[in-house]
This record gives sequence, structure tokens and C-alpha cells, in this order.
Amino acid sequence: MNLLEVIKKRRSIRRFKPDPVPEIALKQILEAARLAPSGVNIQPWRFMVVKNPQLRARLAEEAAFRQQSVAEAPVVIVCCADLRSYLQAVVRAQELLAVEAVSGEFVEVYLKHRGPVSADLVTHMPAATINTVIAIEHMVLMATSLGLGTCWVQFIRPERVAEICELDEEIIVVALLPVGYPAQDPSPRPRLALQEILLPEPGTGKKEESNISMGVGVGSC
Ligand SMILES: Cc1cc2nc3c(=O)[nH]c(=O)nc-3n(C[C@H](O)[C@H](O)[C@H](O)COP(=O)(O)O)c2cc1C
Repeated sequence: MNLLEVIKKRRSIRRFKPDPVPEIALKQILEAARLAPSGVNIQPWRFMVVKNPQLRARLAEEAAFRQQSVAEAPVVIVCCADLRSYLQAVVRAQELLAVEAVSGEFVEVYLKHRGPVSADLVTHMPAATINTVIAIEHMVLMATSLGLGTCWVQFIRPERVAEICELDEEIIVVALLPVGYPAQDPSPRPRLALQEILLPEPGTGKKEESNISMGVGVGSC
């Protein structure tokens, strides 16, 4: 499958067969996450692969509002970000500058905005989350290309996930990702049409023409 085919084929899968996920497939999925881009190449993402059925049941019951996908999928990837990564941000920015991957101006602006190294790590949560989300979607698409199903599960109690998984306090939980062979074949869910997601460029005279509705249409893609 080419990339567009994978993107079109992906669905949120909430019912799974009990068949195990082959180790080779799991490795490929995690490799796709590892290769994701991140701001200043900080790579804050961390993943816990949960296969233990009791642990998955606890995650579903106690931390994911009894979402069946979490209990049923043979693998649940607990997707996290390590805020401690941001302690190395200055070093990382300087390394990037040294290899001229980014301009000195960018590094200067970046360092100014990120504050001192000792700043409360919590201030890095939005950046850590954004970077981790990219890695998660890499995994979702890789899993799809391997014939596996996934479902983003963000309707969770992150603090309960952290307790159940015995995570250090600097590790924040971003989402759960159940992975397994689909036991359902859902139709495409509705998407906005292209004209509904495009904002007119100022000065092109298109603002007056555009009639952007908030209705949900099935995108043609
Ligand atoms: C950030 C995010 C969080 C989501 N959280 C949940 C969730 O907690 N439970 C769930 O069943 N689906 C969840 N979903 C799946 C969405 O409901 C789904 O992507 C959307 O309805 C479109 O369907 P599709 O993914 O099959 O195209 C989430 C999706 C995203 C991107």
C-alpha cells in the first residue's frame, strides 16, 4: 500500500480478535514511532507495551472508563512523554547549531522562549504532548499498513494510568493505543469537505466567495 492508501484504509478499531500481534509487527510499529520528527529533535516520547490481560483489564476498568478496546486488544501501547527530556534542551539546541541543522537565530529564539533549564518541567507539557502525538500517529499508520487495527484512546484518567503502570512522576501519559487484528470493518467516518477546511488567503478576494459551513460532510479525498 502507498501512503495515501494507508491513510484511507485507517479506521478507529474498537473490537479486536484475540490473535496475538506478531513481535516483528510490534517492532515495526515502535520503529515508526522512533523515527518521528520532534522540535529540536528532543524525542520526548516513551512507550510501554502492555500485553498482560489483567493489566489491560485494569487500564480499561479503572483508567479508560471501561472502553472495551483497551481490554480486548492483545496489546495496549501506553504512550507517554518524559518531561526530563527537556532538561537536555539547551544541549540539544547547541548540538543542532553545531551541525548547522538549524540557524543560530532559531536556536537563540528557541532558548529565549523555553526559559531556564531549571524551569518547572510542567511548562513543557504542551510541547512534549505535540511531539508524542506525531509519534503515535506514525504507529497508527504503520499498524494499518501491516493489517492491524488501532484506536486512539485519549478519554482516560492519565493519573490512574500512571499509577497502574508505575510510571515516574516526570512521565506524562498522552494516550493509550490498543493494537490488534480488527474484528470489525467500519465504513469511513464522515469528514469535512476540502473547501470547509481551507481558510481563504487574505488579498485573494476569496473571502467573500467562500461559504464555509460548519456542517459535517463526507470528504471526497
Ligand atoms: C486525540 C484523539 C483521541 C481519541 N480518543 C478516543 C477515545 O478515547 N475512545 C475512542 O473510542 N476513540 C477515540 N478517538 C477516535 C475518534 O473517535 C475517531 O478518530 C473519529 O471518530 C474518526 O473516526 P476514524 O478514526 O475511524 O476515522 C480519538 C481520536 C483522537 C485523534
